[in-house]
Amino acid sequence: MSLKSKIKDLAHKYAPSIVQIRRHIHTHPELSYQEFETSKFVADELRKIGLSPTEGVAETGVVALIHGMNPESKIIALRADMDALPIQEANEVEYKSQNDGVMHACGHDVHTASLLGTARILNELKHEFEGTIKLIFQPGEEKNPGGASLMIKAGVLENPTPSCITGQHVMPFIPTGKVGFREGMYMASADEVYLTVKGKGGHAALPEKVIDPVLIASHIIVALQQLVSRNADPKLPTVLSFGKIEANGATNIIPDEVRISGTFRALNEEWRAEAHERIAKLAQSLAEGMGGVCEVEISKGYPFLVNNPGLTAKSRRFAEEYLGVENVVDLELWMGAEDFAYYSHQIPACFYRLGTGNTEKGTTNGVHTPNFDIDEDALEIGMGLMAWTTINQLSN
Ligand code: NI
Repeated sequence: MSLKSKIKDLAHKYAPSIVQIRRHIHTHPELSYQEFETSKFVADELRKIGLSPTEGVAETGVVALIHGMNPESKIIALRADMDALPIQEANEVEYKSQNDGVMHACGHDVHTASLLGTARILNELKHEFEGTIKLIFQPGEEKNPGGASLMIKAGVLENPTPSCITGQHVMPFIPTGKVGFREGMYMASADEVYLTVKGKGGHAALPEKVIDPVLIASHIIVALQQLVSRNADPKLPTVLSFGKIEANGATNIIPDEVRISGTFRALNEEWRAEAHERIAKLAQSLAEGMGGVCEVEISKGYPFLVNNPGLTAKSRRFAEEYLGVENVVDLELWMGAEDFAYYSHQIPACFYRLGTGNTEKGTTNGVHTPNFDIDEDALEIGMGLMAWTTINQLSN
């Protein structure tokens, strides 16, 4: 029997229990950096198949190795994230979240369950490949500073050092049965921008006696868009959006200060650093020119995510072999952020999308919404595909 058939058979055999695992994790979601029960559960599942997981990496991370033949020859890392979001689940399903206000609305339950399935398949086939597979179950993808950065600090990319890393993420806008790849730049860096404009409040009927922070803030918001339209390289997408303005005055009261919050996203680290300086300088000098001051705080989030072209091209080819050319699609640039980006700045990385959308089953709602759910048929595909690409990466 060919390796591909063996993997497909194993994926099919394990799919029902991996669906149950996914449902268990979905029912018991935990917020970022609080994945204590999930991480125990994952470690237990790994022990059940004879692996010896290391627990407590960056507090709730779990790492395990699968040794094939000649284990030193090549080491490949596979990563899943385990945290859930502060969202109240609206789905009426038997595996609905039992933790009030917490929900696996970004599919990290799927990533974790799928990697456990991949681990079973690879472990069962460990006499058929050379090298070592490092399984990484990480905390805190959804919240700064990002569990990936903490795992790296804790040494997850050392002892042994993997030569590359792969991760997958559910995508409800891609139909089940298909996966998506993109070489090179894929996702954006994301930083939080907080501006506090200070003036001098007073009676709105006496504008000559106030320094109006509402007017200053308005000018700042408009002026900062030149960052996107005049300063950014048109070939590199940039986003600057302000979603929150607080000016606690009234129709006839000018407040003392206005607070503005927004997000800055980019795909280039030098430009990102330059943009931070430009935001601060422009906001401060505009405020000063109008008699007020502007305090600027930029909280750095994840860097941009880059898919190593060689690794990604190979993974894509392996996916085409496993699923058929017609089931592998191109991904567009995505201005969302993902902490897998941290790994991608350390070693060659490939982050691809697993289609989970099925109109008939109603699983096409976006991630981070209370109605998000997946077509569970995607689990068999996800775990089998990752096993197939990994074994091929080891020998290519
Ligand atoms: Ni996610």
